[in-house]
Amino acid sequence: MMATSSNTYDVIIIGAGAAGLMCAATAGYRGRRVLVLDHANKPGKKILMSGGGRCNFTNLNSTPANFLSGNPHYCISALKRYTPQDFVELMDRHGVEYEEKAPGQLFCRDSAKDVLNVLLTECEWACAEVRMETSVNKVTENEDGYRLATSAGELTCESLVVATGGLSIPTMGATGFGYDIARQFGLEVLPTRAGLVPFTLHPELKQQLAPLSGVSCPVDAHCHEHHFREPMLVTHRGLSGPAMLQVSSYWQPGDEVHINLLPAQKIQEDLLALRKDKPQSTLAQYLNQHLPKRFAQAFNELQGWQGPLQECRNADIEQVAHTLGDWTIKPAGTEGYRTAEVTLGGVDTRQLSSKTMAVKERPNLFFIGEVVDVTGHLGGHNFQWAWASGVAAGNEA
Ligand code: FDA
Repeated sequence: MMATSSNTYDVIIIGAGAAGLMCAATAGYRGRRVLVLDHANKPGKKILMSGGGRCNFTNLNSTPANFLSGNPHYCISALKRYTPQDFVELMDRHGVEYEEKAPGQLFCRDSAKDVLNVLLTECEWACAEVRMETSVNKVTENEDGYRLATSAGELTCESLVVATGGLSIPTMGATGFGYDIARQFGLEVLPTRAGLVPFTLHPELKQQLAPLSGVSCPVDAHCHEHHFREPMLVTHRGLSGPAMLQVSSYWQPGDEVHINLLPAQKIQEDLLALRKDKPQSTLAQYLNQHLPKRFAQAFNELQGWQGPLQECRNADIEQVAHTLGDWTIKPAGTEGYRTAEVTLGGVDTRQLSSKTMAVKERPNLFFIGEVVDVTGHLGGHNFQWAWASGVAAGNEA
């Protein structure tokens, strides 16, 4: 990292996370004098903990439909101009090995450190300075740009980029500072809430599902007609796994979550055929065939289904099929920011340029990454947004 001799920069970026580092390298390559400031002791902490330590750094199938925002068109331009393939090429140029763990989802083969090293190397090559353990106490505007009162003294810049991320995982350095800056400069901040987060359950259901802790099964879960066909995991705290995390981003307190436990089966047809062909067979046997054993057993007990199928009336079978195909639960809540992967809401994009990420009324003030009201689905989309918005701002700041 290059040391600078004065306290004046062309670009100061607050936040040395995914978006901030990407923006720094991009602006640095344009010959801009760039400083990245972060209050944490190390850069890119969320990159390091992401994807179970292997960072799901992009999704080859990412489209704007994979993002939630009060202004759904906002993300289109940046995502189109910096694509998953562009980031893959960057990984290739640095010789990072990766693998596609699920369709489109690229993970480092070895460690998330590889992604962080690429970004830090790019910053070094672009002569962008990264200064950690520096807190920003105050931001004010002056005629040439912005003045920052920091723990390392006063710094000034022409362009200020806010890349402070969301509120999730406060122990990793997350703060609402970016929202404060937005409000200070008259921007709207849309209400925030935890997304991609496990559900907690009311005591009775939690107790009933307790024996299933650690069991996972593929489901189709939906909330407000947003369907996700992915695994669900029962934990000692509630329901998690990709399906539940995805649905949590669409869930509001009081909402129901609908879960098809056998999305690959035509349950009613199967059971009617089974009753005809093997009248002595039981629901437990049917469930055992299609669900993990512990899950089948506990679910059977939970529903109190007993006896051979020949004793079931058509209405009973219809009821069973409905229960399995549309198991409806009302979560007590979510685990909140403590474990959430992302923060929904944030800086209202209607006041930002979708081309540059700059405030429309203030072309030298930029907001990128998770601090803005653009939130991706699980599966590498959030990093893709961090890269794309970082590049868009880095090309302009
Ligand atoms: P990010 O949070 O990365 O960086 C913000 C930076 O700002 C931090 O370094 C912070 O210290 C700094 N900062 C905050 N306040 C400050 C202040 N007041 N002063 C100075 N600095 C300040 N996504 C994905 O696509 N694939 C994945 O595999 C995962 N996995 C994953 C796992 C877990 C456990 C979490 C919590 C999250 C993920 N994500 C993910 C989401 C992804 O990590 C997230 O969307 C991006 O890191 C957002 O990048 P940003 O640069 O916007 O914020």
